[in-house]
Amino acid sequence: MSDDALSNLLHEDRRFPPPADLAANANVTAETYAAADADFEGFWAEQAKRLSWGTEPTKTLDWSNAPFATWYEDGTLNAAYNCLDRHVEAGNGDKVAFHFVGEPGDTRDITYAELTKEVCQAANALTDLGVEAGDRVAIYLPMIPEAVVAMLACARIGAPHTVVFGGFSADALATRIKDCGVEVVITADGGYRRGSAAALKPAVDEALTECPDVNHVLVIKRTEQETAMTEGRDVWWHDAVGNASPEHTPQNFPAEQPLYIMYTSGSTGQPKGILHTTAGYLVGCAYTHWAAFDLKDDDVFWTAADIGWVTGHSYLVYGPLANGATSVMYEGTPDTPHKGRWWEIIEKYKVTILYCAPTAIRTFMKWGADIPAKFDLSSLRVLGSVGEPINPEAYVWYRTNIGGDKVPVVDTWWQTETGMHMISPMPGVTEGKPGAAMKAVPGVVVDVVNDEGKPVGNGHGGYLVVTKPWPAMLRTIWGDDQRFKDTYWSRFEGVYFAGDGAKKDEDGDIWVLGRVDDVMNVSGHRMSTTEIESALVSHERVAEAAVVGATDETTGQAIVAFVILRAGEGETADDAETIVQTLRNHVAKEISPIAKPRQIMVVEELPKTRSGKIMRRLLRDIAENRELGDVTTLQDSSVMNLIKDNLESSKED
Ligand code: WT7
Repeated sequence: MSDDALSNLLHEDRRFPPPADLAANANVTAETYAAADADFEGFWAEQAKRLSWGTEPTKTLDWSNAPFATWYEDGTLNAAYNCLDRHVEAGNGDKVAFHFVGEPGDTRDITYAELTKEVCQAANALTDLGVEAGDRVAIYLPMIPEAVVAMLACARIGAPHTVVFGGFSADALATRIKDCGVEVVITADGGYRRGSAAALKPAVDEALTECPDVNHVLVIKRTEQETAMTEGRDVWWHDAVGNASPEHTPQNFPAEQPLYIMYTSGSTGQPKGILHTTAGYLVGCAYTHWAAFDLKDDDVFWTAADIGWVTGHSYLVYGPLANGATSVMYEGTPDTPHKGRWWEIIEKYKVTILYCAPTAIRTFMKWGADIPAKFDLSSLRVLGSVGEPINPEAYVWYRTNIGGDKVPVVDTWWQTETGMHMISPMPGVTEGKPGAAMKAVPGVVVDVVNDEGKPVGNGHGGYLVVTKPWPAMLRTIWGDDQRFKDTYWSRFEGVYFAGDGAKKDEDGDIWVLGRVDDVMNVSGHRMSTTEIESALVSHERVAEAAVVGATDETTGQAIVAFVILRAGEGETADDAETIVQTLRNHVAKEISPIAKPRQIMVVEELPKTRSGKIMRRLLRDIAENRELGDVTTLQDSSVMNLIKDNLESSKED
């Protein structure tokens, strides 16, 4: 099948125009696109006015040393001041910054004034521990308010933070601490997950046996569990921060002061330390948070993602706080103590904007629409999706069952590297198309190109690239400029290659098809894993599906699918066999007989990273019977055995 056939694979005719009232008062309008198109740098110079500067920048972009960019280079500012003090000074000190909801049911509303005070205290405490501008601080915490305080305290004193997701192992923590030369770690005794207190501090102790350069550990009390403290090294947060002065004068730093390093996995085993700097990143987050979610003063915004990932950084911390917004922060899992926990939170705080991952949506689909139906979700006015392609079935389910059939869904495409949304519908302008991320946000320029780097026409697929720099772009990979160039800037001359495949549909709208290594080639036919997953999930009996391309002697790659059935279905062995045949035929019917999976395995669970991403590489390894790679980020490694067992018995002759 040629590229042309790709365009016929996703046939989606449903369209959802913006609600009239939203469109009438929309932040982003057709004029916004026109303004950005007419004057790219002028547009971004204008967006910089969202921030308060020590010294206003006179320059916008310097790309003369590409691919190393600077944005707003001669400006100075303080990131924490922009997220905190200035809102208090403007008279909004009593506005709630976070409605915190702990998993056990404890809650805390934190105003901008209170958050500012705590951040000042923490900044003073860090300074007392010897942290200076430029020093790296690791943050290894559960989803508690102190995680935000810790990040902003670092930002306030110009010390780049590296937040390591609390679900990572001691080894992973040590690797990151060593890679960027951390001297102070901020952690907690533990956190609550699935109804119990899980310890965190022991992992830090274990990691630090390999990290002699760490001289202090600040420990927050969350669970009150027994915690070993190392004399001279470990300090209780409530002592150090609690007793520190709440007065702290923020210093202005250069626009390009490193703000944070976020590790993300690359194609090799060694994680990449993605470096974000201050001004451009903040401008990008503030602007896109305002634009894609149509943010208004009285919105209650909820990013249901962990602070340990870039989504938490950009849209739980920096974007919402720079915009002075009110957010929800939830510590736990969606099914503790019951499967309606999210909807209960939305009802209680009258959440207006929800931002989550398709994997969560598909989980809710599996649990059944009757659960959210028990709650009042009428406050919602914009729904966001992030992290992976959202299949049309999940999109429509989300819109219908969470959004009451009237709330627009924005599918936001971006990456740890991009720092901010790059492709997304604008809820007041864009007609929603289930499954499509649509167009670049105003001020961002993307394209889909072929092997030679030439733009493909409408109806064709190719590689997703970003053709102009953008303010929140990564500046480099920490300590490895060469890897930065090789990974992102060498595949196509002068443009950023995102590693994703995409297609332009007949209208020129963009469908992100997933990582290029998830695009399969079967007998010379180019096919997207996403698309076959969509087809599978569109069957009434399928809750979730993951498709991989396994090496095949005859066809190059063969399609192997892993599916989770809806509760109550396929419980007997006989039933499972019938359903496999039904599903193969269903895919053949939905897409084409060539898209029929070679194998379909009915499984109980899919292997996911802690952030909820399906680990396709592992599934591919299983499908090809290779030795398993690193499974430390699996939620539950027994899942793999389960899937493996299923594989043995499901092979077709
Ligand atoms: C990769 C980046 C974006 C923050 C969380 C993940 C995939 C992300 C979408 C989307 C299709 C998406 C891409 C991308 N991805 N958003 N809306 N539609 N795919 O950040 O861990 O850096 O992952 O996630 O494959 O390259 P990340």
